[in-house]
Amino acid sequence: MSTRAPFVFEPNSAPVPASERAGRIADPAFGRVFTDHMAMVRWSDDKGWHDAKITARTTLTVDPATAVLHYAQEIFEGLKAYRHDDGSIALFRPAANAARFRDSARRMAMPELPDDLFIGSIEALVKADADWFPSVEGGSLYLRPFMIASEVFLGVKPAGEYLFMVLASSAGSYWKGGVRPVSLWVSHDYSRAAPGGTGAAKCGGNYATSLVAQQEAIRRGCDQVVFLDATERRWIEELGGMNIFFVFEDGSIQTPPLTGTILPGITRDSILQMARDAGLTVREELYSIDQWRADAESGRLTESFACGTAAVVTPIGKVAGPDYAFTIGTGGTGQTTQRFLDALTAVQRGRAPDPHNWLHPIA
Ligand code: PLP
Ligand code: COI
Repeated sequence: MSTRAPFVFEPNSAPVPASERAGRIADPAFGRVFTDHMAMVRWSDDKGWHDAKITARTTLTVDPATAVLHYAQEIFEGLKAYRHDDGSIALFRPAANAARFRDSARRMAMPELPDDLFIGSIEALVKADADWFPSVEGGSLYLRPFMIASEVFLGVKPAGEYLFMVLASSAGSYWKGGVRPVSLWVSHDYSRAAPGGTGAAKCGGNYATSLVAQQEAIRRGCDQVVFLDATERRWIEELGGMNIFFVFEDGSIQTPPLTGTILPGITRDSILQMARDAGLTVREELYSIDQWRADAESGRLTESFACGTAAVVTPIGKVAGPDYAFTIGTGGTGQTTQRFLDALTAVQRGRAPDPHNWLHPIA
């Protein structure tokens, strides 16, 4: 099919009634409130991409021998649409998500979805469900594109059929009660990604393997886990679903480099660009857990924050490991962290200039 072919629109014949929708979008938190429609595109060896449609959101019926259920050939993305003060709607950097989705697909031996189908499906879904933007301040429509191996076969091989879908979800803050400094547990036992592995791909398996470490973090009284590199178990990599930044007394900022074991975050990239635009000294360099602790204790390091589409910019207040604990700055939200949070959300919400054309308007 031509990748420019329009999506067939099959309107939901029984959408959620407006009064009930109003209740659901008043304070939706994260990940539980879904809209009336979803996007679907199929791929098969013989037909390529076909059957693109926007249809009523419903359950999937899958054969128990569907490949994804056994061998986890699955990838996903996460991006947001924002309703601006003038009523217009914009996506934030969807071309970057489309490119990362292709990168993830290649790593998982899946077919690459053309960017115009990726972005076109999201545009069509957001237009269909434009009434689902949350009414809460700071709200957005969180889009979850994903692709699964849908062939029914138990042999271990790249599937011959795939299903690409997009869900839309009304979203408030990722954190219960809004943004506040989080505490991190440093996992010295579990690693998230190894050299040559899938750390830079956004595949579901990465999240499955992070959960036991996240469980341990909660058991230790922390909010989130932070992973170290798998080889030396020294270098800070990222959280289960967020990249990490360090802010120093001299005003410089640092973040781990993209060595193949961390996700190349679009929020991370945007913050690096904004920092460079502001004339800050920026380093993409390895940083060890021992150095982090020493710098926090000496005052050389003043702030740390986590960042991602869902979590936006979240201050890190405290860090703990098996036999140590330290506080970052005062344990509160630092000035630089707050500045990045404000600057990024101002661009996303159309309240500040957008010099890099990150906003993608939806007519
Ligand atoms: N790291 C991981 C493991 C993630 O799941 C995410 C979220 O998507 C990020 C980092 C941040 O990426 P982005 O800023 O593109 O949302
Ligand atoms: C995102 O920020 O979009 C993520 O994917 C993080 C998490 C919800 C998986």
